[in-house]
Amino acid sequence: MKGRTKITVIGAGNVGASTAQRLIERGDCDIVLLDIVEGLPQGKALDIQESANILDFNSKITGTNNYADTADSDLVIITSGLARKPGMSRDDLLIANQKIVGDVTRQAVKYSPHAIIIVATNPVDAMVYLALHESGFPRSRVLGLSGVLDGSRFATFIAEELKVALQDISPCVMGEHGKSMVIVPRLTTVKGVPLTQLLPAEKIKQLAERAVNGGAEIVALLKTGSAFYAPSAAIAQMAESIIMDKQRIMYCSAGVDGEYGLHKVSLGMPVKLGKNGIEKVMAYELTADEKTALANSAKAVQELIGVLKI
Ligand code: 2OP
Repeated sequence: MKGRTKITVIGAGNVGASTAQRLIERGDCDIVLLDIVEGLPQGKALDIQESANILDFNSKITGTNNYADTADSDLVIITSGLARKPGMSRDDLLIANQKIVGDVTRQAVKYSPHAIIIVATNPVDAMVYLALHESGFPRSRVLGLSGVLDGSRFATFIAEELKVALQDISPCVMGEHGKSMVIVPRLTTVKGVPLTQLLPAEKIKQLAERAVNGGAEIVALLKTGSAFYAPSAAIAQMAESIIMDKQRIMYCSAGVDGEYGLHKVSLGMPVKLGKNGIEKVMAYELTADEKTALANSAKAVQELIGVLKI
């Protein structure tokens, strides 16, 4: 009988540790939390484990600095890398995080050649492209945190404006997890009704702009770090659809292979997530304006990928 799902979270910073916490508390997967800093993953893992008696979960979390302990992981979540400081764009992290994510990917896949990889490190679309290159995995097994998080932010602002329950909002955010993000009000619905029927265009534009800048808004408020509660919740939801084979359709960064007329780029698209990772990339009908915005977003990511020289 196959044992419990094994998940490795690489990076024991705020995003990694809170992702590990959200996943271990589900009780159906064991977690290895890895970081290069001696003691950091071990301390955080032990602290999380010591909450098991209170929160009533039996799964195990261990901290390590040794990739051998990650062997045979079903899912590897990469969160390690530099985070933004106020005034920085995600693109400003590119070169530093290329080295980190490149190294981490090579080490992780050496021990877990059959894993599915979720990348959270920014600039995430370029990092997904890098992880695909460094792992040699099929695109079904490498995805990135993007539209689930951006959509949740957009939904938060819509709910505030419309005074409706957040659960009734289904946001649609595609493209780059960055300034050229493509928010699609026409495909964003409130109990099945398109947002374009519920709010005037000017208000939608205002809420969308706030969502595009959602990460930067948190960075500016925190001054010494970036968001991790909503990002870790988004990663956990993506992971859950994979480990529970839920086949949920989520907006994630993934390798593009002709969808929307695009190639040689990773970008936020609607994907169906199940036990094989990306089970299907959904190609929706887009309007001419939406297609143009997505093509512009792809171009922005391709410029970053060009800098990676891979
Ligand atoms: C964010 O948007 C960290 O990129 C992540 O907050």
